[in-house]
Amino acid sequence: KLLVESEFYQECKELLSSLPRDRSFYAEYLYQYQGFWYPPNLLEGVLYSQKHFQARDSDIILVSSPKSGTTWLKSLVFALIHRQEFQTPLESHPLLDNNPHTLVTFIEGFQFHTQDTSPSIFSTHIPLGSLPESVKDSSCKVVYCCRNPKDAFVSLWHFVKRLTLKEMVGCTMEEMVSGFCRGSSVYGPFWDHALEYWKESRENPKKVMFVMYEEMREQPQNSVMRIAEFLGWPFTEKEIENGVLEDIVKLCSLENLSKLEVNEKGKLVNGMETKAFFRKGEIGGWKDTLTPSLAEEIDKTTEQKLIGSDFRF
Ligand code: A3P
Repeated sequence: KLLVESEFYQECKELLSSLPRDRSFYAEYLYQYQGFWYPPNLLEGVLYSQKHFQARDSDIILVSSPKSGTTWLKSLVFALIHRQEFQTPLESHPLLDNNPHTLVTFIEGFQFHTQDTSPSIFSTHIPLGSLPESVKDSSCKVVYCCRNPKDAFVSLWHFVKRLTLKEMVGCTMEEMVSGFCRGSSVYGPFWDHALEYWKESRENPKKVMFVMYEEMREQPQNSVMRIAEFLGWPFTEKEIENGVLEDIVKLCSLENLSKLEVNEKGKLVNGMETKAFFRKGEIGGWKDTLTPSLAEEIDKTTEQKLIGSDFRF
């Protein structure tokens, strides 16, 4: 096993040295692979999953660009799939003692052990074209969560600042916006990532569902109901009458999750503080952080990227 692993890392090293790279705010360099940009550790995770990840027909894969609502989507889908087991979710539930990221396996995290219960829920930021073949070949379902690019950018800015990554030292917001708009951002270009999944969700609506963070914020119950239907776990009228849907939305709300001890004081296995995943969750909150000219730079990129597409953020 060790030999296989060391061969894998050797292959990664060789591949990395052949790829285009760009200076970055997130890691020393980002590398461009199959059209998207990654820090080395995440790229290794992508390559590993392309070789070894085996999706099953019953699996659910949650996809997003970083800072687009991943944590929330994980908690909601976990809660809706397990709603029979935890009938009083506001009093007793795994989400009250575990950060959502520890309940859902991150595909780039090298550990794909399937959960005992079927279906297994996985999450990833991998762009459509780079997903492991088995995701495309099996009947597993994919839910993609997208967010307004300015809010996603601002969320990322605060996230990396909170984590005080050493690469951040000296990086100005202007530099970071410029990298984001150039596409050289973690799993960027942000727009291409979203547009590919959008197109797939139109062409293959049984396989890929596309949801907007903003829409989930405005109408959480409605969004969760639609996700549940898509996944083949629809809420019954009786469940809705009994407040099951309402309780799941309450359990997974930013207000509720962010004040739990496990999320306020916890750490993930990679050392990241769990509180970094919860901030304001506002729609249009970018106004507090971006200057008008930086906002305009992002808007211009959005405009250009959307030419020829029927998609609007
Ligand atoms: P802000 O930084 O704008 O507040 P991700 O989970 O993909 O890393 O995205 C993080 C963003 O989602 C943060 O946005 C965070 O506050 C918000 N978020 C986290 N948990 C949430 C929840 N339960 N409900 C709504 N938004 C949530």
